[in-house]
Amino acid sequence: MAQSIPEQAEAALAEAEERLSAATTVDEVKAIDTEFLGRGSTLSGLKAGLRDVDPDDRPAVGKAVGEARSRIEALVTARTELLSAEERRAMLEAERLDLSEVLELPAIGHHHPVSRTWRRLEDTFVGMGYTVAEGPEIETDWYNFGALNLPEAHPARSMWDTFYLEAGEPGTVLLRTHTSPVQIRTLLAQEPPVYIIAPGRAFRVDTPDASHLPVFHQIEGLVIDRGITFADLAGTVDTFVKALFGDDRRTRLRPSYFPFTEPSAEFDITTADGSWIELGGCGMVHPNVLTNCKLDPEEWSGFAFGFGIDRIAREQHAIDDLREFVAGDVRFLSQF
Ligand code: FA5
Repeated sequence: MAQSIPEQAEAALAEAEERLSAATTVDEVKAIDTEFLGRGSTLSGLKAGLRDVDPDDRPAVGKAVGEARSRIEALVTARTELLSAEERRAMLEAERLDLSEVLELPAIGHHHPVSRTWRRLEDTFVGMGYTVAEGPEIETDWYNFGALNLPEAHPARSMWDTFYLEAGEPGTVLLRTHTSPVQIRTLLAQEPPVYIIAPGRAFRVDTPDASHLPVFHQIEGLVIDRGITFADLAGTVDTFVKALFGDDRRTRLRPSYFPFTEPSAEFDITTADGSWIELGGCGMVHPNVLTNCKLDPEEWSGFAFGFGIDRIAREQHAIDDLREFVAGDVRFLSQF
């Protein structure tokens, strides 16, 4: 026997309920909604069929159809809300940015090996009580040469092949050839006792090779106090080399010549394979330099040194050629 209209409405509600609870997406719920409540749906058909129902029974049958319809509507709304909340949560989860992961990315970059050596040198000397001084890279002839006991036309000026700038009187403005002009600037600005280091860039018209770069780095050291002797210089150099390279390295001072120190020495250390390499020059500050800085050489004495930072870095990392440091090859630089 054919089902009555209320029975059909009841069956449609039961089926819709089952289908809705099985639906997993908002789109599926929409399709069920159209299928059960839209045009041409079972419930629309039942509503149209009310015409043929006995007028006495019509209100009760109509009520049953209306109730089934509003139950399905309520179920559709509830299921839509639930599923859209879930979909939103899933979307947020998928789009979530894990910032801790970003922080753990392989290194974005790091300091250049020469900068690292520069910092280690600073730390070592600051630990020994020195302060860090600075001076300009563009210097005048007087700071770079004259005040350092190299008057004009002094033959020792040819020790440093100089980049001159087209500024001022010809031959008076230059790129500093060493960090030694910072000695002069410091002594003119500060009363002794002085214990400073001055790391920085220096420039020379040198052809690049395994040990030379036209732009390189030096670290100047200057100590001016009462009663400073050559033994203090030798001890300082030895202490800093051991702090930087380890206790097994030996140091040696070889007699040399610099116009701004007397006596002067070249300073060598042993390499990993036991041979000697030159790191820089040093000596007792020349009395003329003290006088040029308005200090009395009878009262004050001191020592100075100037080492090549690039050469120290090369030695620390057992690299053959200084040019590697400036070639900009990431495969080389990422090793440090
Ligand atoms: C000087 O420049 C003196 N001003 C050092 C000094 C300071 C002596 C204080 C006494 C007192 P020299 O020209 O030798 O000295 O250079 C010192 C060091 O700088 C060298 O031993 C080397 O390590 C480094 N150096 C010099 N030229 C270059 C270059 N073109 N490339 C890389 N390193 C260099």
